[in-house]
Amino acid sequence: MKVKGQPMRPIRATQDGRAVEIIDQTRLPHDFALVRLETLEEAALAIRAMLVRGAPLIGATAAYGVWLALRRDATDEALDKACQSLAATRPTAINLRWALEDMRATLTPLPAAERAAAAFARAGAIAEEDVAMNHAIGRHGLGLIEKLARPGRPVNILTHCNAGWLATVDWGTATSPIYQAHDAGIPVHVWVDETRPRNQGASLTAWELANHGVPHTVIADNAGGHLMQQGEVDMAIVGTDRTTANGDVCNKIGTYLKALAARDNDVPFYVALPSPTIDWSLASGDAIPIEQRDAREVTHVWGRVEEGSEEGVVLPVRVTPEESPAANPAFDVTPARLVTGLITERGIAEPSREGLLALFPEMRLKA
Ligand code: MRU
Repeated sequence: MKVKGQPMRPIRATQDGRAVEIIDQTRLPHDFALVRLETLEEAALAIRAMLVRGAPLIGATAAYGVWLALRRDATDEALDKACQSLAATRPTAINLRWALEDMRATLTPLPAAERAAAAFARAGAIAEEDVAMNHAIGRHGLGLIEKLARPGRPVNILTHCNAGWLATVDWGTATSPIYQAHDAGIPVHVWVDETRPRNQGASLTAWELANHGVPHTVIADNAGGHLMQQGEVDMAIVGTDRTTANGDVCNKIGTYLKALAARDNDVPFYVALPSPTIDWSLASGDAIPIEQRDAREVTHVWGRVEEGSEEGVVLPVRVTPEESPAANPAFDVTPARLVTGLITERGIAEPSREGLLALFPEMRLKA
């Protein structure tokens, strides 16, 4: 994607080949800031503190984190330590574990002297593979949008959280069909769930869509069901942090409620995912570890004081009574029965074990 006419990715190796450059997503939409990662510790912190987030991007960052670690020390012990510390950054997105297992399998057989260069090459390949998968997801999803196009009105698509190019290496997953439809001249309009508590929809998806000129409207998280009842939503497309072998979909908290509302209103509910997001080792979503985040994300809101505001608000701002505890589960699981289809790089799978295996037959032994 482009920002101010310049090709941009949320992660890339620096031109001098000595570091990795990321967009600090905690500062969007107010500031566009690039940050250099030069060490394993910086890469781990960038994931933990959510400067980078979104399942595929977390995986790509972890892969580069292994490279940064091995530049300093390429022994077996250092590889182990790097993988362990990166794996501990966030628990839910399976792409993290997938990328680390891939890096480990690539690097372990090599002599130490060759590992850093091989790690750099493999991390770059993981990033490029992500771009290709997401582009293919967009092509398959575009067909679904085309079928819903009607003269005189846009296709209204609801999305949750940010499964856009900022959450991947490029294109996004849920947004890839949307960008491709828009670029092909199909009128689309996106309902952007704000996605409390961290507001990835309001801050990131809205920023992306505005940047690309895609018509959109930010809505409070609870508005989606009402809009579906009013016939204002033609389809929902969301991303996922981990989809299990039976098609259960773990994604940002609130996804499940949107899927329930979609089912009640006969709105097709699609999930877009590259294959590294499938956890073939889990038979259902019950066993997925759900990240429990700091209660402060619920008790406070973050934002920027409007210029000229007389309110003099200091941010973050508390919105709950001091004595009220808060809970902050960051993800939920949407059962496969509520999902219309899984848009993968190989096509659209029925949300079931057999549906996924029909597209990925080589995984039959694992699932
Ligand atoms: O907590 P986050 O911002 O990392 O959560 C991101 C999501 O839930 C996305 O929908 C998911 O990772 C898919 S990204 C293509």
